[in-house]
Amino acid sequence: MLVCLCNALSDRAIRSAAEDGATCCKGVWERCGCRPDCGRCGAAIKEILAAHLGCRSGACAQPAPQVRPTA
Ligand code: FES
Repeated sequence: MLVCLCNALSDRAIRSAAEDGATCCKGVWERCGCRPDCGRCGAAIKEILAAHLGCRSGACAQPAPQVRPTA
């Protein structure tokens, strides 16, 4: 899905930039070799970064399923 229309950046490219160390919009644009134009994508980039970095840290991990003891 395209997130930044000005630079044709996809959500996949944003997650890849996060893997390369981007923690903010500026970092994403730098790692993708582009720069902000209209800036409308900023909130969406921040959401994707937060979700991705949160998942990597384990913050969004699902709790382990409960296991019932057998009789
Ligand atoms: S949509 Fe990203 S800078 Fe315009």
